[in-house]
Amino acid sequence: MLWDNEKFKSELRTRRFGHEVVFFEEIDSTNRWLLENEDRFNLIGSTVIANHQKSGRGRRGRHWYDVPGKSLLFSVLLRPDKKNAPLGFLPLMAGVAVAEALCQFCGCSSQRLRLKWPNDILIDNHKVSGILAENTSAVERLCIVIGIGVNLYQGTEELPDENRHPASSLDLLSLAPSSREGLLARILEELEILYDLFRECNIEEMTRRWSFFSTALDSPIAVERSEGIIHGIYKRIGEQGQLVLKNPNGFIQEIYSGEILPEGQYE
Ligand code: BTN
Repeated sequence: MLWDNEKFKSELRTRRFGHEVVFFEEIDSTNRWLLENEDRFNLIGSTVIANHQKSGRGRRGRHWYDVPGKSLLFSVLLRPDKKNAPLGFLPLMAGVAVAEALCQFCGCSSQRLRLKWPNDILIDNHKVSGILAENTSAVERLCIVIGIGVNLYQGTEELPDENRHPASSLDLLSLAPSSREGLLARILEELEILYDLFRECNIEEMTRRWSFFSTALDSPIAVERSEGIIHGIYKRIGEQGQLVLKNPNGFIQEIYSGEILPEGQYE
């Protein structure tokens, strides 16, 4: 499927996000490319899109698999001010932006959609989108790249085998967008609004926006970390976007990285 940049620009209603845009028919990874070429861009919210990635990067060293033309694959450049910025909220806000866009543009009801900390997007318990935030190690200025993949038009046989939450596509869930360009424009609009909240350090509003789509408070969850699995009751999101759990001994535990396991995979 071809990318129609004119259509994308005509649908875009942002101040800056998506104004500088680069499209690749095929690339290894939009995240890798943008991290290495960030100094070519003046505007925050500059966006790199690919029709296909040969080595798409997923969380925790995994591969993000796609079939050419059947996904929305892009990375967005952000340059937060390091001082006291609640950086852990950035990937969470990217998840909210995708969630809002899927509800508004694809007609998904908010009851069907869940954000699984930190930023998996599940519809009817199937993963349709993943987010990977990566940063440059430059000391002088922080640059964060938010990479987002959304499964749009894949059939069942074109999706990776997932032993966790099974993957699905919007088409299989009868939620295919009328165009990739329109969906990307809508995600960028939401992301720009949420990035403003982040820059204002508006923790309360960011937490409210994320919690609307997230796991119910006080539900039991299990989080897989490199050291092992942690069980607890989900209490809230902390001021840095971390997961706050009450563990079985009654102590509060804060988790900054890891993966929530689906119910039934706790033992
Ligand atoms: C996950 O494992 O859930 C995160 C997947 C992130 C995939 C996107 S696709 C566009 C961008 N470029 C990459 O190499 N990865 C991200």
